[in-house]
Amino acid sequence: MREFMKILAIETSADDTAAAVVENTTVLSSVKHTQLEHADWGGIVPSIARRDHLAFIDKVVEKSMHNIDTIDAVAVTAGPGLAIALEVGINKAKELALKYDKPLIAVNHIEGHLLSPMANKIDISYPALGLVVSGGHTELIFIEEIGKYKILAQTLDDALGEALDKAARILGMPYPGGALLEKAAALGNPKKYLLPLPMAGREDQNELSYSGLKAAFLRLVTTVTSDKVTEQEKNGLAASFQNRAFEHLIRIIRHSISNFEFQISNLLVGGGVIANQELRKRLTSLGEELGIRIYFAPMEYTGDNAVMIGIAASFKYNKGLFVKDFSTLDRIPRWKVDQSG
Ligand code: KG4
Ligand code: ZN
Repeated sequence: MREFMKILAIETSADDTAAAVVENTTVLSSVKHTQLEHADWGGIVPSIARRDHLAFIDKVVEKSMHNIDTIDAVAVTAGPGLAIALEVGINKAKELALKYDKPLIAVNHIEGHLLSPMANKIDISYPALGLVVSGGHTELIFIEEIGKYKILAQTLDDALGEALDKAARILGMPYPGGALLEKAAALGNPKKYLLPLPMAGREDQNELSYSGLKAAFLRLVTTVTSDKVTEQEKNGLAASFQNRAFEHLIRIIRHSISNFEFQISNLLVGGGVIANQELRKRLTSLGEELGIRIYFAPMEYTGDNAVMIGIAASFKYNKGLFVKDFSTLDRIPRWKVDQSG
């Protein structure tokens, strides 16, 4: 990789307005404004997300960067994500690139999460495997080389983070409830309530599914609690749901990796859900069992951030993958990671 190449990266795909400057994989700055207004709505409200991105984008970008003259390129998340939220970051990146005559790089958000374990680290060798577990995605990916990806397993319905957030909501926690569910689960018995293990016996399909588990959880909660759920019941319910949700993920990953045509020794793990300590523990044990070294995203770059967008952009910079005509860069709300190269 070229030395001393600085990228200003912008991310607005969901409810975080973020900007960062990276020099290859080294983080020089990282600024983020997390929108809290979605908490009572049970999910992200696109119009509120857009309004807040518009209100904060200039401040966030300014704070991330001292002097644009030292920047070699501007990068931005072009998808996947909420179209009207993505648009705010894309417009800002285009404006800066045009005004200051910088190359523009379009980055896939999942590729960002996938490469986030490389933040401030350079010793990961490829091919490798990657796991992205976030609010919108649950994907096990073969990284043949950076920029060349193949999806090995993914969810048929809800993403892991989405499932945890829905379970948390059923227990009365505000959105996004994944982290609150983890706290409650740490105090409860994971074997307290029996929930179905998704795709049991169908591991060969390399697919995850959380909708059945979620429905079973809703039924369970209504039978356990005729009235208001007690703290102790809540902890047991949280622990039982989280336990099954993770067990399912680990089983599918174990099966996919064990049956994969190549023997790979590195697994990169990124995305908001990997802030969860219990999941880190289970993946670490799986790594020991399979003889695979696991590289987790640093805690501060698990959730959405612009550092990961800058890292992915650095590799695109070196390959000359720039947006040729700025007017053609549009939002790609359903951009798949295996089409991101
Ligand atoms: O990567 P991210 O910030 O956004 C997406 O790209 O989706 O991930 C957000 C997800 C949410 O579902 C949130 O509940 C979950 O990550 N999350 C957690 C924890 N912290 C955040 N899930 C479980 N345990 C946590 N500690
Ligand atoms: Zn994300």
